[in-house]
Amino acid sequence: MKTYENLEKSKSIVGAKTVLHAIKKESFFRFRRLRQKNWARDLMCEVQLTPHDLIWPLFVREDHIPAEISQLPGVRRHAVNELDQILDEACAAGIRAVALFPHVPQEKKDVAGQEAFFEGNLICKALAKVKDRSNDIGLICDVALDPYTTHGHDGIVKEGDVDTELTLEALREQALVLAEAGAQCLAPSDMMDGRVAVIRKSLDEAGHSGLPIMAYSAKFASSFYGPFRSALGSDKNLGLADKKTYQLNPANGREALREAVVDAEEGADALIVKPGMMYLDVLQEVVAATGLPTFSYHVSGEYAMLKAAAQAGILDEMKALLEVLLCCKRAGASGIWTYGALDAAKEIKHGL
Ligand code: PBG
Repeated sequence: MKTYENLEKSKSIVGAKTVLHAIKKESFFRFRRLRQKNWARDLMCEVQLTPHDLIWPLFVREDHIPAEISQLPGVRRHAVNELDQILDEACAAGIRAVALFPHVPQEKKDVAGQEAFFEGNLICKALAKVKDRSNDIGLICDVALDPYTTHGHDGIVKEGDVDTELTLEALREQALVLAEAGAQCLAPSDMMDGRVAVIRKSLDEAGHSGLPIMAYSAKFASSFYGPFRSALGSDKNLGLADKKTYQLNPANGREALREAVVDAEEGADALIVKPGMMYLDVLQEVVAATGLPTFSYHVSGEYAMLKAAAQAGILDEMKALLEVLLCCKRAGASGIWTYGALDAAKEIKHGL
């Protein structure tokens, strides 16, 4: 009886009063009744995961760059002429969008990331190759300079730090190049103040008012991006430096919320919270505060952890992956960016 009294006191348990009432009347409330059979479990399910929830990040390479990524097992860099086949597979599995990330050869990088504005760069070549495909799949491109800079930062460095104004000018140009090349959604991942407004305005002025922006609003300075940086070839460039002067402190949920609200006000159509698993509290609050479609990014380090545990025989990879993705949905995510998108989509298709 003591436990039930505690339950009644606990204001934080939703419906505690109702439960208590039922308990008193029937002596036992049996949650397990609805957990006995698949039909009941399926029927009572509060959120569902479908292939339509998944965004698949893809790394693109020049032909002479190796496909294997040692720090990101199970993920490959794709040559431009392999993309059609990869997109066919994604479409067949029900995936609705991919995000393209370029591995830019070191000799094409410089301090200002100028390769980002070259209409013949790798990402533009990739877009040109796939943009006229008949099947309808979203092509999302990051707006940030890190694939292109010799120092590995997302912007232009002046006096030892990334300079907001110089970087905004560069991002504006990069966004226009990507829009012209056929990107179908732009995802600014640079975390410069004011970038959504600047990009939105210049897209509109250039006749791209229909092109959506999915902003990485709450992007934390996380130690879980390492494998992504090695996939891109920016890890050695960044060296021991970090991105704490522009990415969020992992301690700061309220600040993350302010970032999201500002991005929404500046015209973002959808938002991203990143990393995924450990930041679902932030995601839940961002959804509540903005009402915008908000995506969780299950980042490279989170994915690599899961792979490593599976390879060591510690976790069932597919079950663990689907649980991660489902929990993102439960927290309110409209969808999830994950390197496991294709595997997950195929698995869900033949029955979760
Ligand atoms: C770069 C960018 C990063 C990721 C996406 N875009 C890394 C970073 O900020 O250094 C991380 C993705 C991942 O780890 O999966 N602007």
